[in-house]
Amino acid sequence: MKKKIKIKKQETLLFTKIKNVNNRDDKKIILNKTRFIEVLKELLDIKDLSSLKNRLLKLKISLNSTYCDTLGVLNIDTNGDTIELKKSYLLQEIEQIENTFTIQRARYYLQRLIKSITEKKTGKINDINLNRWKEYEEIITDSLWIFDKRDTSGAHLAWYWGNFIPQIPRQMMLRYTKQGEWVLDPFVGSGTTLIECRRLGRNGIGIELNHEVAERAKDLVNREPNKHNVITEIITGDSTVLDFKQLLEKKGIKKVQLLIMHPPYYDIIKFSNDPRDLSNCNSVEEFLKMFRKVIENTYDVLEKKRYFALVIGDKYSKGEWIPLGFYTLQEVLKVGYKLKSIIVKNFEETRGKRNQKELWRYRALVGGFYVFKHEYILLFKKG
Ligand SMILES: C[S@@+](CC[C@H](N)C(=O)[O-])C[C@H]1O[C@@H](n2cnc3c(N)ncnc32)[C@H](O)[C@@H]1O
Repeated sequence: MKKKIKIKKQETLLFTKIKNVNNRDDKKIILNKTRFIEVLKELLDIKDLSSLKNRLLKLKISLNSTYCDTLGVLNIDTNGDTIELKKSYLLQEIEQIENTFTIQRARYYLQRLIKSITEKKTGKINDINLNRWKEYEEIITDSLWIFDKRDTSGAHLAWYWGNFIPQIPRQMMLRYTKQGEWVLDPFVGSGTTLIECRRLGRNGIGIELNHEVAERAKDLVNREPNKHNVITEIITGDSTVLDFKQLLEKKGIKKVQLLIMHPPYYDIIKFSNDPRDLSNCNSVEEFLKMFRKVIENTYDVLEKKRYFALVIGDKYSKGEWIPLGFYTLQEVLKVGYKLKSIIVKNFEETRGKRNQKELWRYRALVGGFYVFKHEYILLFKKG
């Protein structure tokens, strides 16, 4: 009994220490893979729960720093096999074993931990290792996205009025593509999608009607380091008439694995004076017709069973809410896609908007409407 209390005290102290290290930043920990698996397998052989927990405590001490590492799990050989894990994930897994009441349960968690280190389980459309799914905290799986601020790192300069936040293409690529696959963005604007392509190691093709914008975007995309050596190309063109199949064939690409589209929200922002520009349509009907052409034009080049993300917002005009999101959704369904999700995303607060906040609140009170605070990411799958 006395012994037990002693261990518990030591345990609490140690755990607090580890937690503090972990709270400072969500560090990754590099382990000697062979030795770590050996230690976990030794734990599996232990017959009673309290001995197993004692041994687990030793492992935790070892993980805390190389000075305390009596088990040699942090001892990296020059030619040895290593594994990198999120420290918080590893500690969570260990804590779960510590909190068990039966040896069977502890063994079950141990086996699961060993499996997560020794086996990789990925699906057909992304690189997410499902055996370590808890480590992918960055990936959002809820349908309501609230972002406090846009990512303005690296080449994401946010110079283009009407761009989207880089987190949108990033989330889509992480979920719906593998490294080295192809992403097509027919309304590429300032190249946000392609900058993310470079970061995540996906190849990307972007089409932009406005030549000047396309040239500026090219410059910017090229400023982003290309550490995965991918192709990111911007072409000046009209996506309503472009022969995408021919374009890809010329480049030796059979199909793309993800489509991302962020068209003008009808005429909310006038992007140019070009009549081929979707923001210059004379009516919602005309806008939907042109939008539909782009959907039809790109349908064949998307690989089967792959995803299409449409980013769009609604519009308010002459006292009426125009649900562009729902209208465009219908057009996409008519072409043959299956709807997978409707994601609602907040608008981040720009300085301009902040200054007009009071005015819009007053207008809303007078006019009996609600001020736009959201847009949609409509997610479709090709059958
Ligand atoms: C909402 S913006 C896209 C912004 C982009 N996601 C970014 O982050 O910069 C829409 C873009 O579509 C372009 N566009 C409009 N009509 C087009 C067409 N027919 N073909 C290709 N691009 C077009 C506009 O010039 C504008 O740059």
